[in-house]
Amino acid sequence: MSRENSSTDGRDDGFTRVASAAEIPEGEGVGFDVGGIEVAVFNAGDGFHAISNRCAHQGAPLCKAGEEKINAEDTWTGTRGGVDAESKTVSCPWHLWSWDLETGEHEASGKRIGTFDCKVEDGDVLVRI
Ligand code: FES
Repeated sequence: MSRENSSTDGRDDGFTRVASAAEIPEGEGVGFDVGGIEVAVFNAGDGFHAISNRCAHQGAPLCKAGEEKINAEDTWTGTRGGVDAESKTVSCPWHLWSWDLETGEHEASGKRIGTFDCKVEDGDVLVRI
């Protein structure tokens, strides 16, 4: 899922409201445009994490991790990639590279994608670029 949100709603702390916490279920992610930056926000169960929405391998949108595949009936899994709450990682829906939600690192390649401050206030998920 993907949405656009570039308003700071009058806040002076640099955070932008992207969604209500209830709109991002546990184990899922949603993509947002925050000030022109593509950000994926994941609910890993212990809280929310904001990272770049573009995989550094070949550019897949990470917010689609765990979504149902369009050809699922002909494959051995119905979904591809997803959030692992225990390791706090998300695996990419295209080739399953696993990204650390806190550091943005892919251990095997040493590549890193952007991570952003993310918090919940009064039921709203806020991201700071
Ligand atoms: S595009 Fe993400 S693992 Fe290949």
